[in-house]
Amino acid sequence: MAKKIAVLAGDGIGPEIVAEALKVLSYLNTDMNLGLVFENALIGGAAYDAFGTPLPQTTLNLCKNADAVLLGAVGGPKWEPLPHAVRPERGLLGVRSELNLFSNLRPAILYPQLADASTLKPEVVAGLDIMIVRELTGGIYFGQPRGIRLLENGEQQGFNTLVYCESEIRRIAHSAFKTAQKRHNKLCSVDKANVLEVTDLWRKVVSEVGREYPDVQLSHMYVDNAAMQLVRNPKQFDVIVTTNMFGDILSDTAAMLTGSIGMLPSASLDANGKGMYEPIHGSAPDIAGQGIANPLATLLSVAMMLRYTFNETAAAERIEQAVNQALDSGVRTADIYSEGMTQVSTSGMGDAVLNALKG
Ligand code: NAI
Ligand code: MG
Repeated sequence: MAKKIAVLAGDGIGPEIVAEALKVLSYLNTDMNLGLVFENALIGGAAYDAFGTPLPQTTLNLCKNADAVLLGAVGGPKWEPLPHAVRPERGLLGVRSELNLFSNLRPAILYPQLADASTLKPEVVAGLDIMIVRELTGGIYFGQPRGIRLLENGEQQGFNTLVYCESEIRRIAHSAFKTAQKRHNKLCSVDKANVLEVTDLWRKVVSEVGREYPDVQLSHMYVDNAAMQLVRNPKQFDVIVTTNMFGDILSDTAAMLTGSIGMLPSASLDANGKGMYEPIHGSAPDIAGQGIANPLATLLSVAMMLRYTFNETAAAERIEQAVNQALDSGVRTADIYSEGMTQVSTSGMGDAVLNALKG
């Protein structure tokens, strides 16, 4: 049966980086007989310009009917004056919640070829390879009630609500334990159980789920300490699981340990392995249209897609190896350039990976 991928290139550098990812994936599709088919649709600002909405029904339907979604990035200054409800970013949130993509996997890997890109000492980050599992469709970003109200004393009060149901905690915990089993059987759950009742429940449920995974070593940590430990000694971690907001912040911290936003992929998965795959960076309007964006984060997101949705581990590994070989050969896009290396364009980097694949 054909395996369908919805391709949403989006705005800014989105179409440039997605083109390179498809170039590589199409080659692999033929070479390894993967049986993938691709269908394009508009999202974000591009969709707003064409249809007056950042998430047209046709795009949403395509995503729902596909096995996986490949996304570039959305947004840009052109659409900033728009009301929040039709902003490009809303299109992305719509896909995440409509497809129930509750489990956000964000690896932070320091490539040895790019060791000087990190702001941390080499001995602290050398060999860094950790995975943050962030709950993506619940918690304070979605809790009700929310808003800004006028108090009787004439002062305004802003409020959001942090809520998690047992079932929401249970499913993200299962996802995290399974992720840990695919790696080194080590999981750290991050909460604020000393202060927040919600995360007291979080800790209890994660521990319960943990009994079903006796091979995984589970530990717990408060979020403030986790932030500190990530910077002090990040290699003590392997997989971290946490709430939506804590995960947002900690995964950006972890990403920056590697120093290169153009290198980091992500996966957002539902309960059945269907997922949306995208680089963690945005649409980079400052460099859009110049052909200088780094396509490797998107390419590595494709590798995650092959691994997590299609169970094509060998294909995923071939992409990751080809990326490593391209870096070994000394080609660098502008964002990761250092002296003595060969600077290449977006498509130059795509070609380098493709050539490495062809061997
Ligand atoms: P950004 O990630 O787009 O850019 C931050 C900086 O990193 C810029 O200097 C950019 O040139 C650079 N950069 C990003 N990706 C790169 C790549 N592949 N190669 C080389 N350099 C790269 O974040 P920013 O500037 O805060 O946001 C720009 C727009 O993107 C906004 O409209 C924002 O809302 C949107 N955005 C979209 C996301 C998504 O679609 N998932 C995520 C984050 C932001
Ligand atoms: Mg963020």
